[in-house]
Amino acid sequence: MSFGKEVRMSRIFRGKNNMTVMLALDHGMALGPMRGIERPRELLNSVSGSVDSIMLNKGILVQCASPSSGAGIVLRISGAATIDGPDLTAERLTTTIEEALRLGVDAVATSIFVGTPNEHASIEACALLSDECDRFGMPLLAVTALGKDREKAFKSRYLALAVRVAAELGADIIKTYYCEDGFDKVVEAAVGIPVVIAGGPLMDSNSQVLEVAEKAIKIGARGGDMGRNVWQSEKPIAMLKSLRDIIHEGVTAQEALLRYWN
Ligand code: R5P
Repeated sequence: MSFGKEVRMSRIFRGKNNMTVMLALDHGMALGPMRGIERPRELLNSVSGSVDSIMLNKGILVQCASPSSGAGIVLRISGAATIDGPDLTAERLTTTIEEALRLGVDAVATSIFVGTPNEHASIEACALLSDECDRFGMPLLAVTALGKDREKAFKSRYLALAVRVAAELGADIIKTYYCEDGFDKVVEAAVGIPVVIAGGPLMDSNSQVLEVAEKAIKIGARGGDMGRNVWQSEKPIAMLKSLRDIIHEGVTAQEALLRYWN
């Protein structure tokens, strides 16, 4: 990895164990002002100090984030499709590496939609972006997505396929989902590239979120890149702190849940 990429990666993966608590709040570009991210400025202010990194789009970064918050910044640079449009997976690149550099960010993120009609376009865009990222020393985070098929969404076979595709394209960080059965195969498919897990839609309980984080970390994930299960929880800051305890201190989900309520 180039020196520039390593510098930027070190602003995202932190602490003795080189892990990340990343807060995702990039959802508005496709889903609008969802519950929990209606006031991103307040949210970003309140989480400063509890996160290692944040993942968001350019407008919210510039308008609502503090340049001196100290959090690593992952700029999403794919989008251009909304929940009200014909196809959420029909993404395009929305800005450039030059713009990302100008904004001082630490990584850029794009989605690949494996197994959907848009897999070709999204994988090709990610591959070309990977070359450009190499040229500028900018880490690339690939967000792996499998489309609407919920059957596939949590099966290690399909998750591993998408993760391996991202690794083959040259991603520096790979975002995927945790699955109960075979998550080790998903991590293995990343061939050593750091894997971070998304949370997905709000889970049934706080303990479930923390258990997912604990299991994923134990199996080899290098952090969480969660959104809804943090900012839609009753206590977003407490949830972030509990996730942090699991990710950086190796506490159990049970202990982290106790800390959440205390
Ligand atoms: C998905 O395309 C977005 O990148 C989200 O940031 C991602 O899904 C993580 O958020 P959540 O934990 O809410 O799933």
